[in-house]
Amino acid sequence: MEKRYLTILGSTGSVGQASLEAYTSLNATASGGPFRLFALIARENSELLWQQILQYQPCYAILTKSERAEDLQARLKGYRDEKPDTQVLAGLESAVWACQTEAVSIVIAAASGHDTFPAMLAAIKSGKKILLANKESLIFGGEWLQQIFAQSTASIVPIDSEHNAIFQCLSSDLQVKVGRGVDLCKFGVEKVGLLATGGPFWGYSTEQLKRVTPEKACQHPVWRMGKKISVDCATLMNKALEYMEMVYLFGLPERAIEVQLHREAGIHGWVQYCDGHRLLHSSSPDMSLGVAYGISYPLRSASRPVGAVQKASWQDADNKMCLEPLCKEKVLALRLASYALKAGFWSPIVLNAANAWAVEAFLQKKIGFLSILELCERALDEFGRFNYPCDSLETKTKLDALTRRYCVKQLNLGKLA
Ligand SMILES: NC(=O)c1ccc[n+]([C@@H]2O[C@H](COP(=O)([O-])OP(=O)(O)OC[C@H]3O[C@@H](n4cnc5c(N)ncnc54)[C@H](OP(=O)(O)O)[C@@H]3O)[C@@H](O)[C@H]2O)c1
Repeated sequence: MEKRYLTILGSTGSVGQASLEAYTSLNATASGGPFRLFALIARENSELLWQQILQYQPCYAILTKSERAEDLQARLKGYRDEKPDTQVLAGLESAVWACQTEAVSIVIAAASGHDTFPAMLAAIKSGKKILLANKESLIFGGEWLQQIFAQSTASIVPIDSEHNAIFQCLSSDLQVKVGRGVDLCKFGVEKVGLLATGGPFWGYSTEQLKRVTPEKACQHPVWRMGKKISVDCATLMNKALEYMEMVYLFGLPERAIEVQLHREAGIHGWVQYCDGHRLLHSSSPDMSLGVAYGISYPLRSASRPVGAVQKASWQDADNKMCLEPLCKEKVLALRLASYALKAGFWSPIVLNAANAWAVEAFLQKKIGFLSILELCERALDEFGRFNYPCDSLETKTKLDALTRRYCVKQLNLGKLA
């Protein structure tokens, strides 16, 4: 059987590890399965990438932080047992190559932040199937990326659970339009449900939120995730980024997105059609399920329950159908996302950058929890006065850097508590 080659961007992260579980599960057949790992890519975690080399023997292992790749190369050279048949490469340009090279058919975009955006862009331009978790890159690319995607032969399967749920509720002729800037409301979709657990601090008072620590913010009640997305869930900025992701992926007008509070995370999304039917999606809260779906897509494969890959249980949905409306206007992060979408090309980039900078500053205990969204709001105000053009990778990168510089200045001026 001819093998299909996969590249995983961000293999050492939470989604990256869930992707490797899904890969193992799908490949657990007598013949060794239809998939093979082409490249595992991370930034600097040479220790975990080394373990992954030993366990999975990908063709290539890449660290974009070059000095850490040198450590890994030395380790491989000095290894006394049977050497894994893996080549270690360094730098973002190697990551770009491993996403666009002809041998690869599937790229899992599971890195955090948007530093790996050029690699995702290369995968789109060279027509790969992209399993998309990395929402920061999608927002960074915005409408500009939609246009490039629309002209490519690439396909996108969202694996962020909310978007994966919506995708699975679409018919195949609508699925092929996803990511291409096509408004699905013109094809019978009336509304979609974006569901929120509310994060670890739902119902906290402002006084309580002031005292929130990074350690507490990283303890999500349902999902185990990386630090950036955990803090985003705590501020509800994750829901705001997902809201923008909904617009960019499904081409929907904002009025077609209904945000609902659903604490139990038994249901992950729904689509309401113009003929009065509503389809809901339910599964265990487990990223590897969505990844397995994406790797197999458009087929469905019975993934063996290896590691965390669990079959859906009725208990996940049963008695847990409580969906409460969440007023977008009352949630600051959602208000900022809505403003950013209306304001124009430049503003999602500013919001994305200010938030990324603020989350890192909070994790390093330089600013308090409430300052994260405060800074995002201020950055949108500041840059809104100029209306920056954002029609190329260069202008987007420049605006991202300007926003981060503005954030540093705010900190140095003592304007953040
Ligand atoms: N976790 C979830 O359940 C979940 C659900 C839905 C969507 N997402 C989205 O998926 C993305 C990843 O989230 P996560 O929770 O898996 O994050 P994470 O655990 O922090 O892992 C991030 C991964 O990205 C890699 N990375 C970051 N910058 C890189 C760069 N410049 N070059 C190469 N690799 C780089 C990291 O490498 P190092 O380890 O070397 O730093 C790591 O492998 C985020 O966009 C998040 O919003 C996550």
